Amino acid sequence: MAKINAAITGIAAYLPDYILTNDELSQMVDTNDEWIMTRIGIKERRILKGEGKGASEMGAEAVKSLLAKTNTSPDDIDMVICPTVTPDHMFPATANIISEKAGIKNAFSFDMNAACSGFIYALTIASQFVENGRCKKVIVVGAEKMSSITDYTDRTTCPLFGDAAAAVLLEPTTENIGIIDTILRTDGVGLSHLHMKAGGSARPASHLTVDAKEHFIYQEGQAVFKWAVSKMADVSVEMMEKHNLTADNMAWLVPHQANLRIIDAVANRMGLPKEKVMINIQKYGNTTSATIPLCLWEWENQLHKGDNIILAAFGGGFTWGSIYLKWAYDPK
Ligand code: UT7
Repeated sequence: MAKINAAITGIAAYLPDYILTNDELSQMVDTNDEWIMTRIGIKERRILKGEGKGASEMGAEAVKSLLAKTNTSPDDIDMVICPTVTPDHMFPATANIISEKAGIKNAFSFDMNAACSGFIYALTIASQFVENGRCKKVIVVGAEKMSSITDYTDRTTCPLFGDAAAAVLLEPTTENIGIIDTILRTDGVGLSHLHMKAGGSARPASHLTVDAKEHFIYQEGQAVFKWAVSKMADVSVEMMEKHNLTADNMAWLVPHQANLRIIDAVANRMGLPKEKVMINIQKYGNTTSATIPLCLWEWENQLHKGDNIILAAFGGGFTWGSIYLKWAYDPK
């Protein structure tokens, strides 16, 4: 029997309207456009406004447009995975809420947390269910309202993050396309460098935790930076060597968008010219599990069937990894 691969057969995204510029941030904290552009490479990011609106609001919009775009009935979806660090609630899962809002009634759905590596972790899990025949149509939807856990009085973190959602449809194929290989890694040493101090079972929310601003992202930027560069590059180079990929036969690197300097360093170690690297950090910032599908969505019309693509990410945990895929369709 022919081997079944899981292929991305459609992609959609949702971006909130509100644009938070570096100039506006400069009025909130002691920073400026020049510092943010030089050290991070972000010009602006999107923010979801509106009382009571969580990540599912954006995730559901992305999923609805994915279903419409791919002409897929919500009844045919078998599984929905939502990688997120900003779920609507501690429980139930945001994936359940997204499914409800998008009219998906025959699927099982769940969230998973691998921070900024969430999309590549979720895509790997999803691909297993497609490859073994258990599921025929799976949606992975990265949805993040990072503004809900960002401290807009902390200049070391507030320029970094943005809100967005992006979703892909995965389907089986017997052609030699789709997800070919994945490498995923974790090192729990990351806890001390990047975390949210309170709100979980170890330190439940209290007046004290709120007063101490412990419900926001805590990051030791320099340590995370060093880990991100070396680990993202290691797994991406490992993937290239394993599959005889070179700067010539690779079409694209799709890196997690955390810092332009990290992206440049990883591309350099892979020997890739900048023209082969998807970069949109300047417009959206770090949208955690939405960055990689947001790039694929923006570049969709430039992708061709058979294109060799590496997705690479690094995030809280620490978590990191790379995925090698062959793009499954030509521009439509
Ligand atoms: O996606 C999850 C993984 N996360 C990441 O990959 C993020 C990794 N880390 C980074 O991207 C960078 O470390 C940051 C962008 C967070 C910080 O850049 P940096 O080049 O590491 O800066 P730094 O923390 O070493 O700070 C340099 C200086 C400091 O001033 P002094 O001590 O040299 O006087 C900071 O206080 O820059 C100052 N600074 C700022 N100045 C203006 C920090 N934030 C700002 C700011 N505006 N927003």
